[in-house]
Amino acid sequence: MNDEAEKTPADAQWARTCEKMLEAAQRRLREATTTQEVDRVRVEYLGRKGALAKQIGRIPRLPQEERPAAGRALNELKRKLTKLTGAAASAVSREAEEAPIRLDPTLPPQPLPHGHIHPISRTIEDMVDIFRTLGFEVVEGPEVELDWYNFEALNMPADHPSREDFHTFFLSDNVVLRSHTSPAQVRTMQQRQPPLRIIVPGRVFRPDTEDARHFSMFHQVEGLMVGEGVGFGDLKAVLHIFLRQFFRQDVALRFEPDFFPFTEPSAQVHCTCAICGGKGCRTCSYTGWLELLGAGMVDPNVFEAVGYDTERYTGFAFGVGMERVAMLRYGIDDIRLFLENDLRFLKQF
Ligand code: PHE
Repeated sequence: MNDEAEKTPADAQWARTCEKMLEAAQRRLREATTTQEVDRVRVEYLGRKGALAKQIGRIPRLPQEERPAAGRALNELKRKLTKLTGAAASAVSREAEEAPIRLDPTLPPQPLPHGHIHPISRTIEDMVDIFRTLGFEVVEGPEVELDWYNFEALNMPADHPSREDFHTFFLSDNVVLRSHTSPAQVRTMQQRQPPLRIIVPGRVFRPDTEDARHFSMFHQVEGLMVGEGVGFGDLKAVLHIFLRQFFRQDVALRFEPDFFPFTEPSAQVHCTCAICGGKGCRTCSYTGWLELLGAGMVDPNVFEAVGYDTERYTGFAFGVGMERVAMLRYGIDDIRLFLENDLRFLKQF
């Protein structure tokens, strides 16, 4: 077929139309700097609903004699557009590959995600820091403990009714999960001679029914000071200094008589509510006081069990539940939150 002979006025007209479309596409492609921009132009012209498809869709409605010309011109346009967009796409991707990495060393760094100290750990750390300034040393003891340390040496022989107060997990007849940190007192005293000032942070275990205030595992910090002439006044002074610093406000202490087999006399120590300052609030059940810890003067029977001279040495001991203190400090109302590892909770500390 001779192309020249076929040229008609319609051919010329369609060639002009297509030429204009091609020029417009070229302008758009020159401005495109990313693969996405090039692709947007390609879709606009060559897509299923693009400019080219629209023109092709018009063909059936054209006068019969014009149709071949339109078809020829539009086919030619399609070929050129395909070539152009392909070339533009490889040009921008080559440019992107060759572009130098732009690094601005003056920009502030992106903050790295960082972990948080668990509220219980933080409470223990703060307590330990305060006691260190008072000359106390941190000591640890085993969580799996012999009955002798957990009970017997602490003046609770087998069948002693006080054992009932310490609900205890027994692993065998004489091995337990320690139900308080007091056995670490005994271990330390067995190994060292007075004077002694120690605190023992650690986990303790009790088979309690779990609810908002009870969990089968919690943390205690035990304190022990032994020496010549250590008296109840020293206990009061040390606890007062500790609580004032811990709650960052002046607090008053109240000692209520209590009973522990390993201390005599024993006391339940209360301090003015750190939340309301003693005025009365929900946390202190409107009493103005918080029951905080158990304490007392070390019973001579305990000194005897470790071979200390009971005529020469006296001492005081105390034990604090950390979950309770942390709950008061941070206004947390359910002990189970400490163990659920819910990041929404932990991120707040
Ligand atoms: N061990 C006691 C308890 O867990 C607390 C305590 C420690 C009391 C030391 C007096 C002296 O309840």
